[in-house]
Amino acid sequence: MHTEQPATPVHAPERRTTGRATAVAHPNIALIKYWGKRDEDLVLPRVDSLSMTLDIFPTTTGVRVAPEAEHDAVTLGGRPAEGDALRRVVDFLDLVRERAGIAHRAVVESENTVPTGAGLASSASGFAALAAAAAAAYGLDLDATDLSRLARRGSGSASRSVFGGFALWHAGPESASAAEADLSSYAEPVPTGELDPALVIAVVNAGPKAVSSRAAMRRTVDTSPLYEPWAVSSGQDLTEMRAALLAGDIEAVGEIAERNALGMHATMLAARPAVRYLSPATLTVLDSVLQLRRDGIAAYATMDAGPNVKVLCRRTDTDRVAQAVRAAVTDGSVLVAGPGPGARLLHGDGR
Ligand code: PMV
Repeated sequence: MHTEQPATPVHAPERRTTGRATAVAHPNIALIKYWGKRDEDLVLPRVDSLSMTLDIFPTTTGVRVAPEAEHDAVTLGGRPAEGDALRRVVDFLDLVRERAGIAHRAVVESENTVPTGAGLASSASGFAALAAAAAAAYGLDLDATDLSRLARRGSGSASRSVFGGFALWHAGPESASAAEADLSSYAEPVPTGELDPALVIAVVNAGPKAVSSRAAMRRTVDTSPLYEPWAVSSGQDLTEMRAALLAGDIEAVGEIAERNALGMHATMLAARPAVRYLSPATLTVLDSVLQLRRDGIAAYATMDAGPNVKVLCRRTDTDRVAQAVRAAVTDGSVLVAGPGPGARLLHGDGR
């Protein structure tokens, strides 16, 4: 993580907190998916995953430690958070408070530019920004690895948004104790060769999803006969993906990403009852991606916990791909993203 000013080392507990901080983070799209937890409390995944952080849809989050307040006050896009959204933020702040040894409540203001809950990774940018801002406001002195571990507790995919470009989130060893497992599961940047990638994002439905990714993962792991085979093949996909990234081979990167995502959706379709995020509009976009490939354009699709499709291509092919995808999306919008930056603090000293 990059900070715009050096951290001030102060040791007296009452002076450790900066009291207030604001951070920005961007969403990421997984090319090797995180699907399935082995520990829900610690948010430990079953499989390693690998993503590209985007340069669009930033979330900006301010945290102010509020000694006078009895409760945390959380606003998301100017509206007071309630229900599950509020509980997740308060639980996350409790973790930060416990580590900082500071019991004070906080005022949190978050602005998301991505549609929330539509499989467009709003929780990744949201919890990466909250982790960075809350850690600074409560005076935790974290390096990027620590911050990735912390963000993971809010939402697994947020661990990857701490880093810009491509990031790999380690599941950590299965047999480790809880404390060891917690320490061993974090994201880190992934080296790539010469690659100039873009993601053309087809938003076919920006509404919230019917089943949360959390619930869908649980059901898939518990009931889908396809889950274990996918988890095994995903490990192989990751090895091949790392080699393809290093080689700067966009065709291989795309092929591996597409099969990994389709496999993940197959695990959900085989869950009991099935979880189906893919809609007729999704399939229409997938058809347009196949047609692009028939026409000689390197274009490959990936989908998350929602019907929207992200098409990986060379940046130089973006116009052509966006045009084809736009023709397929009758009711929705098409956006173009490139690799974006990691989470960063805007200011952290209360001034
Ligand atoms: O971090 P969560 O709980 O929103 O899970 C996201 C899971 C997927 O987006 C479907 C895949 C991924 O790796 O981001």
